[in-house]
Amino acid sequence: MTDRYQPQPLGPRLSAFKVALFLLLPNNLVWSWLLSKSQRLDLLEANKACNDERPDYRPIAYQNGNSFESSAARNNHVDGKWVLRFLETFNPRSVLECGPGSGFHTRMIVEHPSVQNYAGIDVNHSFIDYLEDKLSSLPVDTLAKYQLFLGDVKEIEIEPVDAVIFSASLHHMPDRTEIFATLLKIVKPGGNIFCVEPTHYFPRFLHVLRKVCLPGYLRDKVDGKTPLTTHHFCTWLEFKDVESFFDGKLRIIDVDYDGYRGALIPRIIAKLARMIGLGWPAWLRTSFPIRLFSKRMSIVFSHVRPMTE
Ligand SMILES: C[S@@+](CC[C@H](N)C(=O)[O-])C[C@H]1O[C@@H](n2cnc3c(N)ncnc32)[C@H](O)[C@@H]1O
Repeated sequence: MTDRYQPQPLGPRLSAFKVALFLLLPNNLVWSWLLSKSQRLDLLEANKACNDERPDYRPIAYQNGNSFESSAARNNHVDGKWVLRFLETFNPRSVLECGPGSGFHTRMIVEHPSVQNYAGIDVNHSFIDYLEDKLSSLPVDTLAKYQLFLGDVKEIEIEPVDAVIFSASLHHMPDRTEIFATLLKIVKPGGNIFCVEPTHYFPRFLHVLRKVCLPGYLRDKVDGKTPLTTHHFCTWLEFKDVESFFDGKLRIIDVDYDGYRGALIPRIIAKLARMIGLGWPAWLRTSFPIRLFSKRMSIVFSHVRPMTE
């Protein structure tokens, strides 16, 4: 194994055919149908280790050093714009951020005027140490009260919050229905769960193809296991599945896509829509062809208030 592949965790033992399905199918099918129970446990363990030990998951290396401090990069990034739009729309007073990493969005959250209580949880100890350092050095008068936790999102125990934010972190977590079940106990009724994530559509398949063609990728075994990560990006149907699983307790109230602009088909659709005077309405922006070519998505769930008698 070359250094380049050292960060890959130890995935479960899978046949070549299953590896191909693992890479190509969306997470909900992989998790509920493709993997056995022991393979799922294997993967969760491997995932935890990978997220904590990857050499590129250190504050200085991650995202070329763009972190808590990088407000210009954050404001120009579509994820940053979406996070800001969420904060401005819902004005949550208390926020749980799942997988803040080196805090690319954390500063925007803790300094948002509506936010008075912030909690962050991450499995990576160096990110948590770094954030502790950064948050403790900010002036207290502009800052929300904060708590940081080292661990898995599913282990979190805190007071109920108005909002949960995932930015590019849910796609690292394969057991999503369980995660949403945990979060439903934490988000207040009427509160929101918000995710900005890379998508598992056409550009993703090209990415997978490129990776698999790289020398060494997936071919070397570690302890007889295939080195896989759980980089299962997100899809609209998977979120619809989550919504229906909770039987009316969770409702999707907003969705948006980005990253399709370079693709020819969405460009033609956008042009035609403009020519016939439709403009670029939300239903078109989130339609199937646009989704298919997108690279990122944002989604807002609402924790539905129970009906009062
Ligand atoms: C790609 S990084 C995103 C970091 C940051 N939110 C951003 O936008 O730059 C994913 C983060 O999720 C964390 N993570 C992955 N699985 C997790 C889990 N089960 N519980 C808590 N954090 C997790 C990783 O350690 C990592 O910091």
